[in-house]
Amino acid sequence: MNQTRNSFSGKIGFVLAAAGSAVGLGNIWRFPYLAAKYGGGIFLLVYLILVVTFGFALMLAEVAIGRKTNLSVIGAFKVLDKRFSFLGYLTSIVPMIILPYYCVIGGWVTKYLVIYVTGEGAQAVQNSFFNNFIAQPVEPLVWLCIFIGMTALIVFFGVENGIEKASKFMMPVLVILSICVSIYSITRPGALEGVKYYLIPDFSRFSPMTVLSAMGQMFYSMSLAMGIMVTYGSYMRKDGDLEQSVKQIELFDTGMAFIAGLMIIPAVFAFSGGDETALNAGKSLMFITLPKVFADAGTLGYIIGAVFFLLVLFAALTSSVSLMETVVSIFRDKFKWGRKSTCLLVLAGCLLIALPSSLGYGVFDNVLILGKNFLDFFDFISNNVIMPIVAFITCIFVGFVIKPKAVADEVLISSQFKRQRLFTVVIKYIAPICIVLILISSILDAMHVITI
Ligand code: PFF
Repeated sequence: MNQTRNSFSGKIGFVLAAAGSAVGLGNIWRFPYLAAKYGGGIFLLVYLILVVTFGFALMLAEVAIGRKTNLSVIGAFKVLDKRFSFLGYLTSIVPMIILPYYCVIGGWVTKYLVIYVTGEGAQAVQNSFFNNFIAQPVEPLVWLCIFIGMTALIVFFGVENGIEKASKFMMPVLVILSICVSIYSITRPGALEGVKYYLIPDFSRFSPMTVLSAMGQMFYSMSLAMGIMVTYGSYMRKDGDLEQSVKQIELFDTGMAFIAGLMIIPAVFAFSGGDETALNAGKSLMFITLPKVFADAGTLGYIIGAVFFLLVLFAALTSSVSLMETVVSIFRDKFKWGRKSTCLLVLAGCLLIALPSSLGYGVFDNVLILGKNFLDFFDFISNNVIMPIVAFITCIFVGFVIKPKAVADEVLISSQFKRQRLFTVVIKYIAPICIVLILISSILDAMHVITI
């Protein structure tokens, strides 16, 4: 098919690249605030169940489709069945929605890194610091431009090699540092309550919203239902063990989210004096809680803070690069444009769409869509609406059109398929039924027809 398509260097190359895309702000910033908000232990439990069932089945299907067709998402669905060409297009909308607001948050991280590096980390301890910062019209925009600029620069020059090398070094450092910070966090006075809240499921806190938010988070965190894994699968060598690779990516991604939760949730309990409303801080949780943990550790804390935000920035960059790369390649495949001009065009479009999200906490704070500001709205519409729809159609496509056997045959080319039965049942029945139920409740909830 495509003779010039390059493959990842070795077996580990694919896993690392996919994990680099998967591990990002979703793990460190988004997972802890959702877990804090939607019931702690019960959220964690639901999330883990989803990862080993839905997540496993969907990721395996996507990677297998990519490897089978040797094409990225638009071409892949088309080649397998012409009637499903639309699925490729629908899927490619998702990274276009996520990329702009992802860069807004990437900008916030960049700002935090700079204040820690310049020794001004102490300011961030005030609760109002973060909210004042994002409410300003100009400053967050400047950081957004810096973050988007870095992302575009990497995509522009296509320094895949550099990223792959840097990932190999920085990802393990991120894991080790996060473990250290979480140990420090857990051992603060009063933090034990938080550990219990996070690890022990309290079934009275369960609601459909727990499942909905956990599912949206799973798609987001594992970079599913947006074509990334199809593209990466298309770069995978035919002798790579598919099932094993998917397991490794899942383990890495979920492990990192788990550690981030341990870093942040106990700290919320320790520093808010048991006030549970602090758990609802949402997207500001990381930016408000972690500075307190760092400040508590004295001067050393500021150094740890600087290193920490550097690594978060790096994790965010590897993810935003994979998002932008996807968007750029969609346009290039479709219109046969050059790499550099497409990159500039995507950069301009992305900035434009990111503007309202960045201004949504100040200038535009009274503009609400479905009761949400721009950033929340984009987040909701991509993770809770379009991605479940894409995932649903993908399940139907794999389950009933090309049939699970097509995926199984692809897996069996290079290894055994131990969880084939689980895969078949999940992709054909369990996943589609659950997705529909959850999607309906989410839409009704957003329209305030019901409250869940
Ligand atoms: N999975 C990334 C994260 O958890 O931060 C976000 C992401 C990256 C989503 C790349 C989609 C993507 F294509």
